[in-house]
Amino acid sequence: MRLSEPFPTIETLVRLVGEAGQRLAEIEASEGAAGNISIYVGWDIDPRPVFPDSQPVELPIAAPELEGFGFLVTGSGRRLREIAGDPGANLAFVMVGPGGRHGTLFSSPHRLFQRPTSEFNSHVAVHRDQVMRNNLNFHAIIHAQPLHLVYLSHVPRYQETFSMSRSLLRWQPEAIVNLPDGVGFLPFLLPGSPEMMLGNVRLMRDHRVVVWGKHGVMARSDVSVKRATDLIEYAETGARYEYLNLSNHGLADGLTAHELRQICDAFHVEQKFF
Ligand code: 13P
Repeated sequence: MRLSEPFPTIETLVRLVGEAGQRLAEIEASEGAAGNISIYVGWDIDPRPVFPDSQPVELPIAAPELEGFGFLVTGSGRRLREIAGDPGANLAFVMVGPGGRHGTLFSSPHRLFQRPTSEFNSHVAVHRDQVMRNNLNFHAIIHAQPLHLVYLSHVPRYQETFSMSRSLLRWQPEAIVNLPDGVGFLPFLLPGSPEMMLGNVRLMRDHRVVVWGKHGVMARSDVSVKRATDLIEYAETGARYEYLNLSNHGLADGLTAHELRQICDAFHVEQKFF
C-alpha cells in the first residue's frame, strides 16, 4: 500500500521509531545496543527541525531510484530503548542524492554515533527492492534479537523456513493471520556482509519476517514501524511457546492443522504451511 496525505512529519516519525525501540526492549529483543531501525520516507520531507547539521555521506549501495527521498535510521552502537528519550542522540536522516550513490547525512549536534547502523547495506537494499517492486512511498525495517527466536535458530531442526514457520505458527490463532507467509530462515552469515544483504533482499521478498540464523530477525512493513514491531512480537511469542514446549517434554500439540485451516478459512488467509 501507499501512505496518503497528510504525510507524517519528521517529528511524528521520530516519535514512532522511539516507541518501537521501547517495545523491542520490553520484549527482550534488544539487549545492549543490539538491533537497528530504519524508515524509508518517499515524500518531500524536511529533516532539519530535528536534524539541523548536514554532511556528505556515501550510501552502502547505489539507490538511484530513490533520489530525493531518504531514510530515518538508527546510529551504529546506539541503544534502541534510548531513542524515545533523546532522538537526536540516536537517529539520523540520510537523504539520497543525485545518482543514488551519495547523499546527505542530517543529524543533531549532540548525536552519539559516527555513522548509521552497521546493517545499513541490508536496510537500503531491502527498502530499494520493496519500494521498486511494490511502488511504495513508505517502508519500515527493523533488525532485532529476540531471545527465543534466536535460541531456536541454533537448533538444527528449525534451521529451515518450512519447519521454523510451522513451529511458530501453531501456538496462537493470531500468528498465522498476521504471518501468513511464515518466517523465512537465512542461515548464519557474517553480520553486515554483502552476502547477508543479498540474502535479506531475496528472503524479504517472500516473508515479512526473516530469521537470521544464530543472530536475530529482520521485519518489514509498508504500514508503520509499529506494525513491523508487532510482527516480531508475534514471531517471538510463537518461539516462546515452542521453547516452553521443548523444555516441557513436548507435552502440548499446539493448534492442529485442521484447526489452523479453519482459522484461515474464516479469516480468508492464504497460507502454505498446513
Ligand atoms: P548497529 O549498532 O551497528 O546497528 O549494530 C547492532 C546489531 O544488532 C548488528 O547486528
